[in-house]
Amino acid sequence: MALTTNEILELLETRGQAQYGREAVSQLEHALQCAQLAEQHNESQETVVAALLHDLGHLLAPNKDDATEAQQQRDDLHQFVALPFLRGVLPDAVLEPIRMHVDAKRYLCATESDYWDSLSPASKRSLELQGGIFSGSEANAFIAQPFAEQAVRLRRYDDWAKVPQQATASLSHYQAMVEAVAISRS
Ligand SMILES: [Fe+2]
Repeated sequence: MALTTNEILELLETRGQAQYGREAVSQLEHALQCAQLAEQHNESQETVVAALLHDLGHLLAPNKDDATEAQQQRDDLHQFVALPFLRGVLPDAVLEPIRMHVDAKRYLCATESDYWDSLSPASKRSLELQGGIFSGSEANAFIAQPFAEQAVRLRRYDDWAKVPQQATASLSHYQAMVEAVAISRS
């Protein structure tokens, strides 16, 4: 079931032309902006790759336009969808921030008073579908997990990576990095 690193990047390239939810950028533009922000903030290669691939689940899930209205009202759980395709190919340092990037929004809403205000309308709306703001004890349990800090930082890049027409490196810039962090299968 796992994809190869080439298949992962091909998926981003081909299916990434779709619009990123209700934002004014495509999935691929969003992924490249997110990875670029992680790089600019001197993140590890694993966190940069997690930023690049954090929404891969959106590209693997059925097309939302084909969903019924009731289905569109539900959370798509995209943070989990990509994991079976990446497990065994990429390490936990990549997988765990991807898995936790939605809960990181719930965490930041609970711990930073002005964070909720900074979210885009689409992101505020999806927060409710994703379970809403964490309670104090939920926030504490969340941040105690391995890679939670990386997930929180990834979340901020995710929030900022929605700028129309933003110049970024191309996907090929990240190919070597994805291969460098991939689990050796030899
Ligand atoms: Fe995202």
